[in-house]
Amino acid sequence: MTDAILSGFKGRHLLRMSDLTAAEIMGLINTAMRFKEVSEREVKKLPTLRGKTVVNLFFEASTRTRTSFEIAGKRLSADVINISAQTSSVTKGETFKDTVLNIAAMKPDALVIRHSAPGTALYASKIAGCSVVNGGDGAHAHPTQALLDLLTMTERKKNLENLNVSIIGDILHSRVARSNIAALNMFNANVTVCAPPTLLPHKMESMGVRATHSIAEAVEGADVIMMLRLQTERMAQGLFPSLREYADNFCLSAKVMKNAKKDVIIMHPGPINRGVEIASDVADGPYSVILNQVTHGVAMRMAVLYLLCGGAES
Ligand code: CP
Repeated sequence: MTDAILSGFKGRHLLRMSDLTAAEIMGLINTAMRFKEVSEREVKKLPTLRGKTVVNLFFEASTRTRTSFEIAGKRLSADVINISAQTSSVTKGETFKDTVLNIAAMKPDALVIRHSAPGTALYASKIAGCSVVNGGDGAHAHPTQALLDLLTMTERKKNLENLNVSIIGDILHSRVARSNIAALNMFNANVTVCAPPTLLPHKMESMGVRATHSIAEAVEGADVIMMLRLQTERMAQGLFPSLREYADNFCLSAKVMKNAKKDVIIMHPGPINRGVEIASDVADGPYSVILNQVTHGVAMRMAVLYLLCGGAES
């Protein structure tokens, strides 16, 4: 990986996967692989971002993204401030714009934003005066999730090219599916999406994927199975008859897994709903890499903060 690629990140935003080239994604994966080792040390700290300030601004619930950005920043010695909308002046009527402008006035080096509305990170990037990282905006994009997923796939499967990846669940509302599809297409992976017709966007094939409504078909031949939860918080109306009927047809169970490849890996961005999209014994079973993804979340977010905040100078 050339220094030119790594030094080219400084001061940029990360809003969606199309902000990155395939070479830059590989640069991030290689940087994250190096940072992974830091989390195994007794003293999990590098001085790299000393004097830098990272603000996590979260308008939507999060366990993994918010915590891993905080840990990532702290492991690089940045000052990390967490702001949750529920405990901010948003509850007193302050607008999103004013919230971002006021945080920007305190001169952070990076702002990580999660919001339920698509486009909020892009809007913030135009007024924040610092690097903005999209921590998930509605059903639009979640680039650091896709990056940590690619890190997990690369570590387990070595090569993304021609990898058979099946994404199963609520594709319609999933920013994780959109970001992973965009990324996997850059590496010529073979992506299959699987959902009931009401949870699959129209003309899905135009995104360069194969679509099916059969979980058995999606599982057969897959090298990677990525399960998604039902995002009921984004559903305006009932899009499936009942949780039980959904689980009967789309839950990844031990029975469905009987036809999977012997070296398949099972992924899930979390949070998981046990017994709905994935059975407990499968989520905790030998093929599952779900908690490895969480570990990789810290390493990948260290790589993102390090490169955007200017850790790699040419
Ligand atoms: N995968 C993910 O974004 O999880 P959180 O909602 O807990 O951040």
